[in-house]
Amino acid sequence: MKKQHVNKERAPIYEMMQEMKDKAYSSFHVPGHKKGQAYTESGGAGFLQDVLQADLTEITGTDDLHHPEGVIREAQALAADCFGAEESFFLVGGSTSGNIALILAVCSKPGDLLIVQRNVHKSVIHGLMLAGAKAVFIQPEPDPVSGLAVAPSAETVTAALAAYPQAKGVLVTMPNYYGMGSDLAPLAEACHQHGVPLLVDEAHGAHYGQHPRLPGSALASGADGVVQSTHKMLAALTMGAMLHVQGPRIDRGLLRQRLAMVQSSSPSYPIMGSLDLARRLLHVQGAGAFTAGLAAVDALVRGLAELPRFKLLHPQGQQPQDAAGAASAGSTAQAAIRPAAAAYTTQDPFKVVIYDDTGVLSGYELQERLEAYGCVPEMSDDRYVVLVYSLGSTEEDTRHLLDALRHITVEKADAQRSADASPAAESRHSVQAEAEKDLSLTGASSLPKSKGSPAEFSTWNILAQATVSEPIPFGLQPIPAEDTERVPLQDCADRTAAEMIIPYPPGIPLLYPGERITEDTAARLRVLSNAGAKCQGAADPNLLTIMVYKKNRKQGSHL
Ligand SMILES: Cc1ncc(COP(=O)(O)O)c(C=O)c1O
Repeated sequence: MKKQHVNKERAPIYEMMQEMKDKAYSSFHVPGHKKGQAYTESGGAGFLQDVLQADLTEITGTDDLHHPEGVIREAQALAADCFGAEESFFLVGGSTSGNIALILAVCSKPGDLLIVQRNVHKSVIHGLMLAGAKAVFIQPEPDPVSGLAVAPSAETVTAALAAYPQAKGVLVTMPNYYGMGSDLAPLAEACHQHGVPLLVDEAHGAHYGQHPRLPGSALASGADGVVQSTHKMLAALTMGAMLHVQGPRIDRGLLRQRLAMVQSSSPSYPIMGSLDLARRLLHVQGAGAFTAGLAAVDALVRGLAELPRFKLLHPQGQQPQDAAGAASAGSTAQAAIRPAAAAYTTQDPFKVVIYDDTGVLSGYELQERLEAYGCVPEMSDDRYVVLVYSLGSTEEDTRHLLDALRHITVEKADAQRSADASPAAESRHSVQAEAEKDLSLTGASSLPKSKGSPAEFSTWNILAQATVSEPIPFGLQPIPAEDTERVPLQDCADRTAAEMIIPYPPGIPLLYPGERITEDTAARLRVLSNAGAKCQGAADPNLLTIMVYKKNRKQGSHL
């Protein structure tokens, strides 16, 4: 596509919305709230009134996301320039809609095969189901120090492509929920040698490549189709996301059609306007947009140095450093020689992953304590708490967090006493024993033990059952009730799942229907059940039982 003159200062959708807001006219079009008029008699819509005023639809001058010729087309072109894409598409249904559309475009016929990292977000599994595609799952690399799974290695991708030359593409997630990543360029090269696209779910990396302290973007590494949740790590409204493409390997016409299938025909203008604003902020301010947010992170790193109980996760051999240091986690990562055993070389400085080094508090418990002090983390697992910073964070936020951590440190003695006596501790200890047994089964028992760690792995650390799986057919056919039965969790190992179990967050299905339940997965389910984790998809909300296929029942294309 020919590059046109770019005026970064413009925000075409937002400017149009401003004009429409100031324009006096009578609405004879949807939405029915008529710029909020519907609520005036009932006392107004409170703080939502401004949103209602901005809530437009496809009328003269507002353009059409499904056939953009005006402000939306201009805004998307500006986004492509900002993020380094040939073409960018605005998404009003989050990265979820981008992942689904991308899979539907690349796997255009039922039975088409896609090579997929196993620990993907549920939207990828749903995309496979909608496409009627076959997936060859590949194993992500577990990081031996943290015990967390990152992305598959280039060797695994190459082996899968060699075994399945009919594959239509490869899909990986980078970075993971913890902000961990590795170099995607060798994966892109492997794909391109086979003439297929590399698709990257970069939901957590919309800011990548925009500051020297941040890891490079998937597009810069050569990925062909990239999905980013602009609402997660940048500043768009929730559900605002983008799909970026470059190169000849993705059929853009088909992609447009697929996007039109999965996105509303009445896309939200507040969301699209916020995408335009989020892009403008970045485009105009450049790396400077992150100065305050990074200063807030640096203040936390300095503060944590005085709180030895709480440690930060960072790539092996690298220390987190602030702007005054030689380099940050991100830039060190770019330049680092990858340690032999490290599964990740980049850490998003904005994803601050902490853990209690005394092992007294699990990640879940530390999150609970933090919330009691008014600091709300993004998520936790048995060991870690993920704290999300962004360009919107302030040093005041950090002061609040450090105060909370100081209080929790003082609580240590009490926590130690109650932890030793509580049923949760007992169950944690038995879980640890099981975990150790399971890890020895999966060959991961060489993981270094951390002091008092409640379990040696993350519950979200899903590995494929083989480095490269057999092709697994996906589809939309419901599983006949007579083919399934409910079994207690302790009896589910070696059975075949008949429901999807999705701990949330992070929304990575631990099981999909038709997947064999290994000892390892059964142990993880018990950890989740004991911890009272929230699981979507499970028929039993308490996860004491699980739906499995009856023995000897044929498994069809999975739900
Ligand atoms: C890796 C990953 N991909 C995709 C998504 C879906 O993103 P969205 O919430 O923008 O639809 C998520 C959401 O958490 C995610 O973690």
